[in-house]
Amino acid sequence: MAEHESDRGANPTSAVNEKVARPAPPVVSVERITHQDVVAICALYKKVWEHEATGLPSELLKAWQPTPLEFTSWMEGVTYFAARREGKLIGVIGCEIQRGACRLVQLAVDPDVRRQGTATALVAASIEWARHANAPVVWGDALARFTAAAALLKHLGFAECGVLHKHEWNEDVRLFERLI
Ligand SMILES: CC(C)(COP(=O)(O)OP(=O)(O)OC[C@H]1O[C@@H](n2cnc3c(N)ncnc32)[C@H](O)[C@@H]1OP(=O)(O)O)[C@@H](O)C(=O)NCCC(=O)NCCS
Repeated sequence: MAEHESDRGANPTSAVNEKVARPAPPVVSVERITHQDVVAICALYKKVWEHEATGLPSELLKAWQPTPLEFTSWMEGVTYFAARREGKLIGVIGCEIQRGACRLVQLAVDPDVRRQGTATALVAASIEWARHANAPVVWGDALARFTAAAALLKHLGFAECGVLHKHEWNEDVRLFERLI
């Protein structure tokens, strides 16, 4: 993923000073999505994957930027949560039960608001949902090149448990799991 450390700003000292000077960001709320959110979610995926596009296979970029009609079909069998701040949709995640385990899918956070706990809140909501569904484990995958996703999942207590080589459009995919 292209942003990584740059999410914090190029100069660590100035980033720290900025953090001290800036007021705390408004609270993020996380809720199940409704059909009324579909257009905003598709716009968010488009923004995220255009931001991450450098070096990514074009098939992947196309597949991960659904139209509203395509996203509506993604919603079948998958529970999606959206994160909002001051009414604006800034993140999304899907969770689905597969053979009794909870899989996380299509996590994405607006590039303008990263490193502010949005993905953390979305994963927490997913884990809560998985507990209610009696799933003993939550797992997810990420292209090996998406080091921010790997850092996030490890930060949230997931263990890296494998790699699938050349699994998606010739890209290696890392697997992560957390027993709950
Ligand atoms: C990965 C992604 C969802 C993280 O969203 P986020 O809201 O910025 O994550 P959070 O603010 O909750 O991060 C929590 C912690 O994860 C780790 N982390 C997150 N992004 C990181 C990065 N770019 N570099 C290093 N560590 C990172 C840090 O430990 C961070 O805590 P800190 O900011 O206090 O150091 C976001 O970067 C994104 O949408 N990336 C593109 C899409 C993608 O890769 N999706 C996942 C596919 S599985």
